[in-house]
Amino acid sequence: MVTKNVEKALNEQIKKEEHSSRIYLAMASWCERNGYPGASDWLYKQTEEERLHMLKLVHYLNDRGGNTLVASLDAPTAKYKSLLDVFQQVLKHEEFISASINDLYAICLKEKDFTSANYLQWYITEQIEEESTVRSILDQINLAGTERGGLFHIDKELATAAKAKAKSLATLADSGA
Ligand code: FEO
Repeated sequence: MVTKNVEKALNEQIKKEEHSSRIYLAMASWCERNGYPGASDWLYKQTEEERLHMLKLVHYLNDRGGNTLVASLDAPTAKYKSLLDVFQQVLKHEEFISASINDLYAICLKEKDFTSANYLQWYITEQIEEESTVRSILDQINLAGTERGGLFHIDKELATAAKAKAKSLATLADSGA
């Protein structure tokens, strides 16, 4: 069993992961409409990945005898100024999620729920990777500036990265997420 405080915090994180999925869906759609098919593919895959993050927590909370809630969600914005703006917002959101996972981890320790804290280690590592990936994408976009050739090249690279992401998602889904 998990304590009521851990159950509440896990449900909040479930909501945030699902909301992340919807935020990236809106971004993917914007990229698809604005001539960035590679970025769009990458963000659609990110949408799936966040859904798997959410499912992994749903299964965990159910396995621990918790009461899992499916919350209502606010609509994400559909307006972005540029590809740079999209990925700046991705990084900002991932930093928010990292802070949220850290807070959740702290609650588990306070409640002496070391099993949940141990489970959350996977998310802590995942957040390091996610932030690092997005920072390197942003570095490339910043280097390209507004140069169309540079952005075209970055978009091609994101298309390749999306294919690699699809493989890692299949592994994550197979692992029971
Ligand atoms: Fe599931 Fe990107 O945080």
